Amino acid sequence: MLVLGIESSCDETGVALVDAPDAQLPRLLGHGLHSQIDMHQAYGGVVPELASRDHIRRVVPLTRQVLAQSGRALSDVDVVCYTRGPGLAGALLVGAGVACALGAALGKPVLGIHHLEGHLLSPFLSADAPEFPFVALLVSGGHTQLMRVEAVGQYELLGETIDDAAGEAFDKSAKLMGLGYPGGPALARMAEGGDGAAFALPRPLLHSGNLDFSFAGLKTAVLVQANKLVAAQGVASFELLDESVRKSLAASTQAAIVDVLVKKSIAALKQTGLKRLVVAGGVGANRALRDLLNAECAKRKVRVHYPELHLCSDNGAMIAMAGAMRLQSGMQAPLYEYAFDVKPRWPLQAMAA
Ligand code: KG4
Ligand code: ZN
Repeated sequence: MLVLGIESSCDETGVALVDAPDAQLPRLLGHGLHSQIDMHQAYGGVVPELASRDHIRRVVPLTRQVLAQSGRALSDVDVVCYTRGPGLAGALLVGAGVACALGAALGKPVLGIHHLEGHLLSPFLSADAPEFPFVALLVSGGHTQLMRVEAVGQYELLGETIDDAAGEAFDKSAKLMGLGYPGGPALARMAEGGDGAAFALPRPLLHSGNLDFSFAGLKTAVLVQANKLVAAQGVASFELLDESVRKSLAASTQAAIVDVLVKKSIAALKQTGLKRLVVAGGVGANRALRDLLNAECAKRKVRVHYPELHLCSDNGAMIAMAGAMRLQSGMQAPLYEYAFDVKPRWPLQAMAA
């Protein structure tokens, strides 16, 4: 079974083709990605209308590229999967529209996929694929959740952020430091060589006794600290502070976020008694998070699985993969109906079997 996946929920157009033979893990045949970062950078964040228009420009050429790279024709595709939600409504409509048009033209079924299920199952594309059951830490720009994952479609929410997501905390703090968009990778770079213990920043809900997160207060604490430093050094703005001070504030911010993510993940493993952790979503690319998680999990004999680094942020491969695994598990029949409704807000638990 050949599954084409199309991702267009935010600022990346992704297309991929996976091969899903019966009773075997699907295999990636080819994938293509176009990031809109350069286009949105001038505005300091994603401009939804520009995102939709760019998806329209990119999706068909990317599909052609992926098919050529995989040595397959469009007529070889058995199922077309697309991101149905959550995400930007206009951007989602582009992927859904193209997927349904392809399905209708080819007489092949289509399947709308949950974006977070794509992230969650993306580690199955890596050489070191996990086994069920596991605890999943989903850390993206819009979501921070701990889930117990029993099998495809069997997801129990253990805890989640009550305000900002971890990626948002990176992005907003980076913006305050004049690091531009997207802030996560920029802040991580700035933090290199900085002292993560230099500034005591809050770790909300660390001792709450549950598995929820709160990151909204962090950006205010970072702002207050940055303003203090600017006043103390008598400079006009944060960018004019000594580089070592800026590095240490970035490192302290990263340490605060990473510390909470790691402690809550360990608490989730303890609560469930599971010995396997899967980390997914854009923040999963963060080196400091990976280093601390690896160290803490090794101490407890817990295996940690990550997606390949290039599949941590949004991509078409994870959408094709989630579709293929749903179909293989028999829990989902592909649809020959080409009327689509996208779901900009859509909790992952709605996908539970
Ligand atoms: O999963 P993703 O690509 O898109 C969403 O579905 O949201 O996640 C994007 C988020 C952004 O907030 C970005 O700043 C963050 O992931 N991110 C990182 C890193 N790479 C991406 N945060 C920290 N360190 C990184 N290396
Ligand atoms: Zn994502």
